[in-house]
Amino acid sequence: MKVALGITGSIAGYKALELIRLLRRNGNDVRVILTQSALNFVTPLSCQTLSDNEVYTDQFALTRGIKHISLNEWADILVIAPATANIIGKAANGIGDDLLSTTIISFQKPILFVPAMDSGMWENRIVQDNIKRLIENGKYVLEPGTGPLASGKIGKGRFPDVSRIYKKILICAGNYKSLKSKKILITGGRTEEDIDSVRVITNRASGMMALELYEAAICRDGDVRLIMGQAGLTVPEESNIFRVRTAMEMLLMLKKHIEWADILIMNAAVGDYKPVKESATKLHTETLTLKLRKNVDILKSIRDYKKNRLFIGFSVEDSNMLKRAQQKLKEKGLDYIVANPVSVIGKSTTSASIISSDGKLMEPGPMTKWELANYILDLAVK
Ligand SMILES: Cc1cc2nc3c(=O)[nH]c(=O)nc-3n(C[C@H](O)[C@H](O)[C@H](O)COP(=O)(O)O)c2cc1C
Repeated sequence: MKVALGITGSIAGYKALELIRLLRRNGNDVRVILTQSALNFVTPLSCQTLSDNEVYTDQFALTRGIKHISLNEWADILVIAPATANIIGKAANGIGDDLLSTTIISFQKPILFVPAMDSGMWENRIVQDNIKRLIENGKYVLEPGTGPLASGKIGKGRFPDVSRIYKKILICAGNYKSLKSKKILITGGRTEEDIDSVRVITNRASGMMALELYEAAICRDGDVRLIMGQAGLTVPEESNIFRVRTAMEMLLMLKKHIEWADILIMNAAVGDYKPVKESATKLHTETLTLKLRKNVDILKSIRDYKKNRLFIGFSVEDSNMLKRAQQKLKEKGLDYIVANPVSVIGKSTTSASIISSDGKLMEPGPMTKWELANYILDLAVK
């Protein structure tokens, strides 16, 4: 993919360098446009070194070819990250008084704005009106995150994680169906049950599939909530992510959110067994025999909430995968079940089989979990 990256005068400018690296690491070609204000925060030399391409700063520099037009032809997508309140205002009102704003006016392929600013600026009605206007005009906007800001305040305005920006770029450049106004509830990770005050019994699920589903649904503008157990990966700290530990905690959290959802994707690896007895204090015995019993059956417990909701479940098996998945689909009253072999646990690629309630088998072949996440979301809104 050919990415034209506009960097503007935000304190988050230095993080755009990480974005250039990530884009390059994934085999993309990057050309950077810096505004005059951005020059106070990042240097053309850093951008040139990391992108391995010429950096553009001046609309009227004496070079052959017209830059804003040639970049328009060259790039598949224009990304403005970070985007200041100023560039958002200019873009929303058709002002082209420097190279970046003129490029925005003439660019006819997808344009993504990644705003970053202090919460006071972000909440300003004029800024919000400008954002609305950009969206109405077919531009993409990745909402800023909430948390500590450069000013010392806590609020909305943070530059999102570069891995999320990269995923949003993939969504904007690809032809993905929007999930706007869809309420999607996802469960993920693994549950654990206490043996004593220190030790737990759990499984090997990494949480990767659920995090890819969450990121894909967010980047496709869905209204998303994630109920997340334990995971081997960093889980973002966001107000729509609810952390749980045990199967019972997961069930209670699900019951709290399920009536809000249109689509439920149950990817969590819920422990099938739990100790019959748990010790309140750390055990020190020479030998330990664990007696386990069946854990709460989450899918069965929420069956009555199904109504018009779409339910998608997951299963992981090392033998009789399709037969067991089919059985689970029927028993739990699911619309779709995604069956994965045990060998994909913790891996970024998978080869899933998906069965629908009308018995259709889909085998999209080997793909990354990100691709599978989007495949599942496409099914969910078909
Ligand atoms: C230290 C400092 C940090 C700034 N950070 C931001 C910011 O994060 N977001 C923003 O919208 N403006 C920020 N500004 C204000 C912009 O730099 C200013 O509006 C500028 O005119 C933007 O120009 P540009 O959009 O052409 O890059 C900051 C200014 C200073 C002095």
